[in-house]
Amino acid sequence: MMNNFLFYNPVKVYFGRDYIETSLATTVAEYGKKVLLVYGGESILKNGIYGTVRELLDGFELFELSGVESNPDISSVRKGAEICREKQVDVILAVGGGSVIDASKWISEASCVEFDAWDFFSKKTAVDEVLPLVTILTIAATGSEMNNGGVISNRELCKKVGRSSPLLYPKVSFINPEYTFSVNKYQTACGTVDILSHIMEVYFNKQEEMCLLSGIMESMMRTVIKYGMIAFDHPTDYEARANLIWAASWAINGFINGPVRQAWNCHVIEHELSARYGITHGHGLAILLPRWLEYCYTDDVREKYEIFAEKVLEVDSSGNVSKKVSDKLSDFFFDRFGLNSRLRDLGVLQSDLSDISFLLCSDGPVSGFAELDKEDIFEILSMCY
Ligand code: NZQ
Ligand code: ZN
Repeated sequence: MMNNFLFYNPVKVYFGRDYIETSLATTVAEYGKKVLLVYGGESILKNGIYGTVRELLDGFELFELSGVESNPDISSVRKGAEICREKQVDVILAVGGGSVIDASKWISEASCVEFDAWDFFSKKTAVDEVLPLVTILTIAATGSEMNNGGVISNRELCKKVGRSSPLLYPKVSFINPEYTFSVNKYQTACGTVDILSHIMEVYFNKQEEMCLLSGIMESMMRTVIKYGMIAFDHPTDYEARANLIWAASWAINGFINGPVRQAWNCHVIEHELSARYGITHGHGLAILLPRWLEYCYTDDVREKYEIFAEKVLEVDSSGNVSKKVSDKLSDFFFDRFGLNSRLRDLGVLQSDLSDISFLLCSDGPVSGFAELDKEDIFEILSMCY
C-alpha cells in the first residue's frame, strides 16, 4: 500500500519582478527593526542588489555579516550568532544563494542558544526557538529558500553536515529571476545539475511512488534541462531564469517526495568530497550522477531507466539503457556545459578514495536508491576518477 505522507511548507514566496521594491520593507518590519544582513562575496555589490536592499531598508538598524563562503563554514555561523546576540537582532535577512541562506538558518538557531553552533550537529541538540529569517535568492540551485534544511562545513574537522528542523523554514522568500541574470556560466551549470540531482535522487527509487508525482518529476527534469541550457547560453533570458529558479524551489521543498522516503546516495558522497576538497556542490554531483546511475542499474528497475531515457533525455531506450542514460547525462554536463568530468580534475587524490569509501560507511552502508557498501562506493568513485 502506498506510504502516507505529510506535506507542510509554510514559506511565503514573492515570485517575480518588483516585489522586493514594494514588499521587502513591510515584510521585514513585521519581525522588527534590528536586522542582520547576511551575504557572501562581492556578487551582490557588483550587480546592485546590495545597494537596492540598503536603500529599501533605510530606517532599519542594519548589521552585516559579509563574506559567507561557498560551502559555508561553521565559523561564519558563529560570527553571525555573536552579532545577533550582542546587538539583539530581531530578524535575519539572507541575500544570496544556498550557502548564505544555509548559514543564516544555522545563525537563526545558534543565536538563541548558549552552546556552540557545531553542537547542533555533534550532540544532535534540538532547539525550540529561532530568529525569523527572510531571504532574497540570487541563484537557482539548492532550494534552501523554500525548505527547512541547512548544510554547514567545519573546515577544521574536515566535515560537512546537513540538518533540518521544522523551525528552519524561512518566513518569507523573495525570488526575482532577474537577480540571477549575473550568475556566471559555471555557477549556472552547477546550479542546474544540483536541481536535476534533487529530482533524480527521488525519482530513482524502489519504493512506493505516485504516478502523479512521477509525471511531474519528468516534466520538471525536462524543464531544468531545457532552461538550464538556455540560461547558460543567454544569461538574461527571463523565461529561462524564471523556469529554472522555480523548479529549484519545488525540487526540494517536500512536494515531490510524497510517499518516497528514501535517503540520497549521491548527496551523501558529494558532501564528503566537498568537505575534503571544497568542491562546488553541483560540480561534484555532475561527476557522480552519470556513473552512479550506471552502477546502480539492475534489471528490476529497467522500466524506470527506460522511461527516464525516453521521456526526459529523449534517447532510445533499447539495449544497454544504463549506459545510454549515463552517456547522455555526461554529454550534457561535460560537453554542453563544459564541466570537468573527472574527480582528479578537482584535486581529489586517488589514494584517498578508499579512505573516503570507508568513512562514508563507518555507520553501515549508504542507503538510497541502492544500498552502497564501501566496495560499491569505491567502485563508483573509481569510475569518476
Ligand atoms: O559569494 P558571492 O559573491 O555571492 O558569489 C556566489 C558564489 O560564488 C555566486 N553567486 C550567487 N548569486 C549570484 C552569484 N554570482 C553572480 N550573481 C549572482 N546573482 O555563486 C557562487 C555560489 O553560491 P552558493 O550560495 O555557494 O551556491 P549554491 O546556491 O549552489 O549553494 C551551495 C551550498 O548549499 C548546499 C551545498 O552543499 C552548498 O554548501 N546545499 C543546500 C541544500 C539545502 N539547504 O537544502 C541542499 C543542497 O543539496 C546543497 O547540499
Ligand atoms: Zn544538492
